[in-house]
Amino acid sequence: MKNDYRFLRACRRQDVDCTPVWMMRQAGRYLPEYRALRKKHSFWEMCKTPELAVEVTLQPLRRMKLDAAIMFSDILVPLEAMGSAIEFHEGRGPVVERPIRSAADLETLHVIDAEESVPFVMEIIRILRRELEGKVPLIGFSGAPFTLASYLVEGGGSKQYQHVKTLMYANPEVYHKLMEMISETVISYLKAQIEAGAQIVQLFDSWVGCLGPLDYQEYVFPYNRKIFDALDAYDVPKIHFANQASTLLPQVVAAGGDIIGLDWRQDLKKAWEIIGPDHGVQGNFEPIGLFAPIPEIRKRVKRILDQAENRNGHIFNLGHGILPTTPIDHAKAMIDAVHEFSAR
Ligand code: CP3
Repeated sequence: MKNDYRFLRACRRQDVDCTPVWMMRQAGRYLPEYRALRKKHSFWEMCKTPELAVEVTLQPLRRMKLDAAIMFSDILVPLEAMGSAIEFHEGRGPVVERPIRSAADLETLHVIDAEESVPFVMEIIRILRRELEGKVPLIGFSGAPFTLASYLVEGGGSKQYQHVKTLMYANPEVYHKLMEMISETVISYLKAQIEAGAQIVQLFDSWVGCLGPLDYQEYVFPYNRKIFDALDAYDVPKIHFANQASTLLPQVVAAGGDIIGLDWRQDLKKAWEIIGPDHGVQGNFEPIGLFAPIPEIRKRVKRILDQAENRNGHIFNLGHGILPTTPIDHAKAMIDAVHEFSAR
């Protein structure tokens, strides 16, 4: 039965009864039950306390017919374990206390052994597998090296990525050393998640769209490739989500992953032609489309499904994370419409 999940079948490009769907950031602030827990606990406490993280992972599944669970955590968890102090400020997003911009700064970081440094993540996965048995499969995840390096070098979110690009161009040795340390950490982290029971893993390259193709090739590609190579021995589907990366698509495919995650800025049908028939495709509903009236949401779901033509290997998702102000009944309507319109 285990391999019979709709979601896992789609990941392997096998026949399904209808297209599976989940939402990036499905565990989070758009749910009042999340906000209620969050009032009582800090964000780090939520990430590091298995009972809380498990509860928050399960919350959206109780409301909606989602076809997969994604463990509640954050891409910044392994960076904190590497030695970087990170704070979550209300409304400002995460802030890195000591940004990494020099060889001396690098000395403050170390590569982690995930089992030792973040055992709580593996505990969350083990509990979730028991809770989800016979229901839906569990997705584990990591940030990709460039996205994580950007956080460390910029000190938080960024519009221009001036510091991380300056480090690349002016101090490539430090940049490459940082990327190596992060890649080793990500490999250890994803291997540990798979060994703990994650049935699918997703690599989030959320900020890579700020780079041109030549820079992607030189400064990003080798690291992402190395991660997928290191995971090759594990027979779990790997999703590679590169945000705002339509101009980088062939390179993203070459870097690795069985399923390519698309943001909403690209045409799914044309993108799949570029990606090729040997890969699945995930996406790509515009998250702000969920603020439209429900009939319009249904129309927009249909449009994407028409582009995918019920081909094996399509996983429906948002083109990026769900926004905290999204009406829950609209998200629910999207999910129900996916199942309804794609029934084979
Ligand atoms: O998808 C899920 O439901 C699983 C949980 C998850 C979170 N973050 C929970 C979270 C996942 C997969 C992430 C990934 C993540 N985190 C990414 C990559 C995905 C993407 O959106 O591109 C990034 C870039 C981050 C970094 C991060 N963490 C940011 C920018 C923020 C602030 C967001 C904001 O709008 O303020 C976070 C915090 C965070 N991560 C929250 C949640 C539910 C909100 C924290 C809170 O309760 O205040």
